[in-house]
Amino acid sequence: MKNKGLLVSIEGIDGSGKSSLAHALQKSLEAHDHQVILTKEPGDTPLGHQLRILLHEAKNDICDKAEYLLFAADRAQHFEQTIIPALEEGKVIISDRLDDSSVAYQGYGRGLDIDMIIQTNEWAMGNIKSDLTFYIKLDFTTALERIMQRGNKLTSFETEEKQFWKRVSDGFDKIFINRKNVIILDGKESIETLQKQATVKILELLKSGTDE
Ligand code: ADP
Ligand code: TYD
Repeated sequence: MKNKGLLVSIEGIDGSGKSSLAHALQKSLEAHDHQVILTKEPGDTPLGHQLRILLHEAKNDICDKAEYLLFAADRAQHFEQTIIPALEEGKVIISDRLDDSSVAYQGYGRGLDIDMIIQTNEWAMGNIKSDLTFYIKLDFTTALERIMQRGNKLTSFETEEKQFWKRVSDGFDKIFINRKNVIILDGKESIETLQKQATVKILELLKSGTDE
């Protein structure tokens, strides 16, 4: 059965502007009278919130496989508790990160088996895929400058070595290069420009869904 709602993910490295775009999109879609749920991975559900704290603060005590499985646990709970009910209610869901982040960070970044991650992600997500993904492409030097300016306490991921960031960033490029339902956005554009470009694409998709 086709879901009534629309699942949109936003991906990119830390500091690329995902959460800014997610909030901007919520505003512009609500202005077009759509019901929007803004969510994220990790940490949207009460369980996810606990997992997020573990993942951000206890990195040295978590091996790479366990790290992935904690993200997968967060994802399973996120789909069960937030995404599937919202899709059934016909909402537009904007998720700041989703399954592709695990492929980029745990697969390309940490070197875990990518096929295993893809398969486990599908299982955790009940075989639901995002309808559309925005990949905000930004070089990691600019992203890191923005993270520093943002001034929040750095997470364990944000203090990783440069080589890790290069693998993650190249990984995202590889994931999205031949994917159909992906829009690649230039992270150096202003938030307003990105908001306009992304809003147009979502409205097009919503319209094509009602025309079917
Ligand atoms: P992410 O969610 O990808 O980590 P954020 O949305 O938190 O990124 O953005 C990181 C920082 O960069 C914030 O201080 C934000 O205000 C700023 N920022 C976000 N998008 C842009 C943009 N397109 N141009 C310039 N600065 C931006
Ligand atoms: P968060 O504060 O949400 O990052 P952002 O700066 O993008 O807002 O922290 C989430 C961190 O977890 C981020 O560094 C990316 C990482 N991550 C993974 O390694 N694998 C995953 O599957 C997900 C969803 C996130």
